[in-house]
Amino acid sequence: HQGLKRRVWTKEDVKHTLPVRDPFSHKGTHGKGLLIAGSQDMPGAAILSATSALRSGIGLLWLSIADKAKQTVCSRLPEVLFESRESTDFSKYKGIAIGPGLGRSEDGEALLAQVLGEKDIPLVIDADGLYHLTNHLSTLKTHQAPVVLTPHPGEMATLTGKSIKEVENDRFGISETFAKEHGVYLVLKGRNTIITSPSGEQVVNVSGNPALAKGGSGDVLTGIIFAFLLQHENPLNAISNAVYVHGAAADQLVKTNHSLLDVLASDLSLTIPTVLHDLY
Ligand code: APR
Ligand code: MG
Repeated sequence: HQGLKRRVWTKEDVKHTLPVRDPFSHKGTHGKGLLIAGSQDMPGAAILSATSALRSGIGLLWLSIADKAKQTVCSRLPEVLFESRESTDFSKYKGIAIGPGLGRSEDGEALLAQVLGEKDIPLVIDADGLYHLTNHLSTLKTHQAPVVLTPHPGEMATLTGKSIKEVENDRFGISETFAKEHGVYLVLKGRNTIITSPSGEQVVNVSGNPALAKGGSGDVLTGIIFAFLLQHENPLNAISNAVYVHGAAADQLVKTNHSLLDVLASDLSLTIPTVLHDLY
């Protein structure tokens, strides 16, 4: 029965499944990640995702962004390393996240196609990465490593050729069909985000609030998911924990000194430490 394959992900679940840091670990142990995000017009999306990935424990993070945006990023986030946008050697990376603020040019689509060719590297695809994915859906099934897609209902509608209304009226069913058909981990965002594994197992998130309904909060989520994915052997647990932490950051801000109106995406990434401190 469906009920057996669906569950709410509680704070206790998170506490039981967070990765434990080995005292002898080093930065390479916690993932060498490549984030392909941002463009000249949208460097902020890359900053939000990169900051959030680093605040969520990723060991080393390289960013592939337009040359003209590098200085801006570097002045905000000195911890990030840079990869050339022209680079095609992805072999040193333990994971790749692509999409936030990437833009919808042909270059972006070519980059996505290259990344999809790295069959053994775990992937997170979001935002404009999902826009480009529409032309490459058939290659997902052949990916060996986990692939995580993080659409909001509008992006899910585009991916499935359905209307937003149809998606919203059957969030569980449409997620399950899509995740199984394409062999991906699907994160269908919105209030009560649903995470579906390639086998159709489903987790429902209950943290978060409408303070998240503001541009940039999705970019923060992508960073947290990416970092957790690289530090966990169980992708469903990693993703569920990331979605929980993202929502809990918004809840924490509203509980302390913010209202539902004034939370910025950058406040979320700065609140990840408080949420993690409480969980560990
Ligand atoms: N309750 C709980 N969570 C919410 C709510 C709500 N009412 N509203 C939004 N959220 C959460 C979602 O679940 C998701 O995690 O906030 C996040 C919003 O993510 P996106 O919709 O991707 O928003 P955004 O950050 O603006 O995306 C930036 O990427 O998706 C594209 O078109 C988008 O260009 C834009 C960019
Ligand atoms: Mg988004």
